[in-house]
Amino acid sequence: MGERKQDKLLGIRTVGIREWKDGVVHYNRYEATPYKALKSLFKHYKFSKTDKVVDFGCGRGRVAFYIHNHFNIPVTGIEVNDKTYEEALDNKTRYKFKAKDIGAPIHFHYGLAEHYKIDKSYNCFYFFNPFSVQIFKKVINNILRSVEKDIRTVDLILYYPLPEFKDFLKNNTPFTIINKIRIPGTKDCHEKFIIYRLREEDYIAYENSLADIS
Ligand SMILES: C[S@@+](CC[C@H](N)C(=O)[O-])C[C@H]1O[C@@H](n2cnc3c(N)ncnc32)[C@H](O)[C@@H]1O
Repeated sequence: MGERKQDKLLGIRTVGIREWKDGVVHYNRYEATPYKALKSLFKHYKFSKTDKVVDFGCGRGRVAFYIHNHFNIPVTGIEVNDKTYEEALDNKTRYKFKAKDIGAPIHFHYGLAEHYKIDKSYNCFYFFNPFSVQIFKKVINNILRSVEKDIRTVDLILYYPLPEFKDFLKNNTPFTIINKIRIPGTKDCHEKFIIYRLREEDYIAYENSLADIS
């Protein structure tokens, strides 16, 4: 089924690209995760009823609506492009007509991902190349600070992960890879998901190792 048809099923409009104006270096353009990729992801990765998700750089909200619709769990999308954010809100109005029976909340927050305060109840964070690795490092550090304050197991889902992002997570954080999910029929080696997890017990060991060094 085509992307527009799948949008229609959810009552949303997410197809297309929005470039930033010249001079924006660290923030990437809007482009939605393909539905085909989301289908592959959720064949292998399931949420439980208690999970709560943030999509950093949510664009028009495709991933947020898809997760909310399939799993009935709370989802928050963060978006800093004002036009794109307005489109996510318009989508929410239309989506809500179609999804009256889904009780979980769905929110869109206008602002910078790197300034977003991560609530202790959130445990899964989605990224489809929203920004540079410099911004990514800030967001991951915010996640780690949130875990330090309220220790819990958290997952990161990276779509189309680029080498510098993988290197940063491997060399500078206690996250470990728990799964790699390829999308059937794609030749591009980056076109996959990598799921990272930070287990409660691994975080405690990581904190102890930092204390030993200092
Ligand atoms: C590649 S799109 C991904 C959209 C959506 N997550 C999906 O997978 O369908 C990246 C989005 O991140 C937004 N973005 C870029 N930098 C951002 C930042 N610092 N804070 C919040 N959003 C940002 C862009 O405007 C764009 O809409």
